[in-house]
Amino acid sequence: MQRVIFNQKGGVGKSSITCNLAAISAAQGYKTLVIDLDVQGNSSFYLGIDTYSPDNRSTLDGTIAGLLKQSTGRWLSQKKKSIDFVRETPFENLHVIPSSPGLDDIEKELENRYKIYKLRDALQELDEDFDRVYIDTPPNYNFYSKSALIGANHVVVPFDCDSFSKQALYNLIDNIVELQEDHNKELIIEGIVVNQYNSQARFPQELIKELREEEMPVLDSFLSSSVKMKESHHAQKPLVHFAPSHKLSRQFFELYCELEGLEVESESNSMKTKITA
Ligand SMILES: Nc1ncnc2c1ncn2[C@@H]1O[C@H](COP(=O)(O)OP(=O)(O)OP(=O)(O)O)[C@@H](O)[C@H]1O
Ligand SMILES: [Mg+2]
Repeated sequence: MQRVIFNQKGGVGKSSITCNLAAISAAQGYKTLVIDLDVQGNSSFYLGIDTYSPDNRSTLDGTIAGLLKQSTGRWLSQKKKSIDFVRETPFENLHVIPSSPGLDDIEKELENRYKIYKLRDALQELDEDFDRVYIDTPPNYNFYSKSALIGANHVVVPFDCDSFSKQALYNLIDNIVELQEDHNKELIIEGIVVNQYNSQARFPQELIKELREEEMPVLDSFLSSSVKMKESHHAQKPLVHFAPSHKLSRQFFELYCELEGLEVESESNSMKTKITA
């Protein structure tokens, strides 16, 4: 199972949602992999991997840039298995193929050489090693996010309850449907997850009502806003580990259960025991 978290709008919660859902999955006992396709490297950092320090900046080893680069030219002769690019994180069962600054440098080259299916090949190779793969994407409908949407079989779209975001959602869903039709008939659009929801304010409720009336697939689980999220980034610890009994962690469990088709109550209780342990 590969789930890509995508919205071309910046700052809507893609990296936060990717890492927290993946952390829950790992804590539930599933061997879980996060692939960080965003050159900003936020998911890699959040999960305790530093490919951006002056010492590491230029290396492609053990990064998604290295994995994709080896589909080109002379690199082909030294091709490694996809699993060789996977790194452990401090969290049990949770692994990552991190981003690196090199992703930007090789994007055009990969695009010009028609390497859009290479991530899909890697995901197929990794399928036997991991129960769940979560893919964080850049805030662009570019080569990397398209590669992820072509390679994965599930997609979740974070939405930040903003009017401009709502306008962009129509285009975004159209793009995904078109790509699904042309390249990936297996892709399931699981839905739109509302992030930074303020239940006290009328405006977000109205926006969500409008989306539902237009038959946009809004998920039932909402994520509220909390400063704990930023604190957990700083601590390089997914919120569900950093503050396991926080309301927002509970909402992440509910979202996880909704996506996995699980009963919320029993699963979130057992989750809590595992996470606090
Ligand atoms: N539920 C939340 N409560 C409070 N802050 C949040 C929440 N979700 C995300 N944020 C904050 O919003 C900012 C953007 O979040 P995040 O990096 O996860 O979004 P993104 O979509 O991955 O951004 P980008 O498009 O730049 O990759 C971060 O500072 C994060 O701490
Ligand atoms: Mg991000």
